[in-house]
Amino acid sequence: MTSGGDSPGMNAAIRAVVRASVYYNKKICGIKGGYDGLINGNLVSLDARSVKNIIHRGGTILKSARSKEFRTAEGRKQAFEVVQKHEIDALVVIGGDGSFTGASVFEDEYNIPCVGIPGTIDNDIYGTDYTIGFDTAVNTVVDAVDMIRNTASSHSRLFFIEVMGRDAGHIAIHAGIAAGTEEVLIPELDLGVERLIKSLERSSRAGKSSSLVIVAEGDKSGGAYELARIVQEKLPQYDTKVSVLGHIQRGGNPTYFDRVLASRMGVEAVEALLAGKSNIMVGIQNKKLVHVGLEVAIKQDPDIDRELLRIADIVSI
Ligand code: F6P
Repeated sequence: MTSGGDSPGMNAAIRAVVRASVYYNKKICGIKGGYDGLINGNLVSLDARSVKNIIHRGGTILKSARSKEFRTAEGRKQAFEVVQKHEIDALVVIGGDGSFTGASVFEDEYNIPCVGIPGTIDNDIYGTDYTIGFDTAVNTVVDAVDMIRNTASSHSRLFFIEVMGRDAGHIAIHAGIAAGTEEVLIPELDLGVERLIKSLERSSRAGKSSSLVIVAEGDKSGGAYELARIVQEKLPQYDTKVSVLGHIQRGGNPTYFDRVLASRMGVEAVEALLAGKSNIMVGIQNKKLVHVGLEVAIKQDPDIDRELLRIADIVSI
């Protein structure tokens, strides 16, 4: 199943899980609509050909959801009845930390082996250097910011560009460096509006006629619109605009990186289950696939890369 916010590369992961299962002579079905689909018995039988022509497509052919019902004991009981009825031996859950929490609780309560594959654009899962969809999302943001730069520079404007990341600034910091923005504001580090104003004053003195600031959705200074309002008030010389990139960041064809990552993780998830492993997430660390306990993956947030923040500061002077 795919669960939580969708991410580009989920289809490539589904394809790999299905084909690895067929390769090892196992029966496989897809659960449609995340945990809600499990509760309602919305299953579809899959074979190697059912996943043709999907490796390049964004979204998820299995659909996704954030299930409220699965958070309840009653919802999980119903899900277990479906598992029994269809003689399901194991689950592969492609999603983020909410989805992994569900998998871990379900395995603890009903002893159903679960393996997680990290699929979220936010890259906010502990124990893996990359989640499926992050690379594609950052490239989408970089393309968008490049285009905004054209018009910002033509009109000598200051743009606040809001990117996704309710709790995590990974998209923001990577895209900020790659698109050469003046500032990047992230939820993990509240440096205050005063610092931003000083930095923009410096940019102005340094002769920059236009400026771009990336603001992660979860930034603590009030969001892109509020920041734009404050800055416009304090620095009236700037012509300030806001652009919220929104859900375009979740769509699009996955990059080569996300397709390869998803293919590797999908095969590994099946092989891990066949080797008797469960209650784990397949992660990647230093280019090697690793197994991380679901509880570990859920409990901690990965740190923001301080080195990237330092680089961003230096290259934006
Ligand atoms: O978890 C991925 C994510 O895209 C976050 O970056 C964002 O805050 C959230 O999902 C948006 O969720 P929804 O699509 O349910 O509004």
